Amino acid sequence: MRVLVTGGAGYIGSHTLVELLSAGHEVCVIDNHANSSPEALVRVAGIAGRDLGSHVLDIRDTAALAAVAQGFRPDAVIHFAGLKAVGEGEENPLAYYEVNVGGTLSLLRAMEAAGCGRIIFSSSATVYGMPQYLPYDEDHPLAPVSVYGRTKRQAEDILRDWAAARGRAGAPAAAILLRYFNPTGAHESGRIGEDPRGEPQNLMPYLAQVATGRRAALRIFGDDWPTPDGTGIRDYIHVVDLARAHVAALERAAQATGTEVYNIGTGRGVSVREMLAAFSRAAGRALPHEIAPRRPGDLAESRAACARAAEVLGWRAEYGLTEMVESLWRWQSANPDGYGG
Ligand code: NAD
Ligand code: UD1
Repeated sequence: MRVLVTGGAGYIGSHTLVELLSAGHEVCVIDNHANSSPEALVRVAGIAGRDLGSHVLDIRDTAALAAVAQGFRPDAVIHFAGLKAVGEGEENPLAYYEVNVGGTLSLLRAMEAAGCGRIIFSSSATVYGMPQYLPYDEDHPLAPVSVYGRTKRQAEDILRDWAAARGRAGAPAAAILLRYFNPTGAHESGRIGEDPRGEPQNLMPYLAQVATGRRAALRIFGDDWPTPDGTGIRDYIHVVDLARAHVAALERAAQATGTEVYNIGTGRGVSVREMLAAFSRAAGRALPHEIAPRRPGDLAESRAACARAAEVLGWRAEYGLTEMVESLWRWQSANPDGYGG
């Protein structure tokens, strides 16, 4: 298929490009590099041994986006572009609504101009909010507690309404909403990986920078949570597994109409202490850490029910914790300054 990929130079986008190219798809990337380096695309082409088209532009520029889409004539779009830092979203909500919600509207307008009716969207487990039960299944009520989470829920609503209206108008469309749990790890080559700007806000990139010596110690945000070892539990998913879920979703979008929602996780919970131990093994030394207060807005536990993706998409996660931490360490130790090094 011909696939237009927004945000393709980012962490998840770059890994997905490798899987798309390996599966024989043609890709065209749109990215303004607000949070990525063009070097990621050079490395993707090197890993895949294939060229890819790319355009530096903002998804909010509807006219430019429509011109690219009309030239490329995509069969489907994978929409990664967006802003994702929870704290930044609280400080600057308008930017988050403009890019994540406005950008999605702009993209749909460009797709209409190019006659494209298939989209795979990067949503997040954060749309569920406080768990009413665990694991979260796709029918769990949505009550996001952050600006970022609300932008994702609103974008989901827009996509759902768009697909329904197209269906009623006799021009069926498919919107596949993938709710990612906690992506981590890197491509096995160690050539591409997560490269956050500034101080990492999430556990895995922070741990990786403690391991290289760039940060002094991990602060564990609370050891008094109602979990077996008192630290927060999450469902970490290897980024290559996540990338492959997009290839499966693309195949599904070629047959389906309307909106479908899938959790993308492993279904297994890992605590902060377990992750610290696993990453210390991969890095070959006990990593320094201290106990800090709980982080506002945090959850004790988050875990996915993954049956729907297995049944309908035929996708399930293949990699475990060892592959996640070893690949993350391979990337971080070979590229201690990310793409800037
Ligand atoms: P990322 O920041 O590495 O990638 C996003 C890409 O979008 C970047 O390359 C950035 O430059 C680009 N971008 C941002 N604003 C843009 C704009 N206005 N126009 C064009 N390009 C723009 O993030 P990621 O971790 O790869 O996440 C990809 C998507 O998945 C995001 O939508 C994110 O919200 C979602 N998501 C991520 C996680 C996670 O933990 N990484 C979890 C759930 C959902
Ligand atoms: C974060 C986002 C969430 C997003 C998810 C995707 C916040 C508040 N939430 O959630 O919106 O969907 O990433 O991956 O940012 N931890 C530490 N020390 C650290 C960092 C984290 O102990 O320096 C702990 C946290 O308390 C948590 C676990 O590690 O228990 C994972 O944290 P993080 O990586 O930030 O992910 P989420 O909390 O799931």
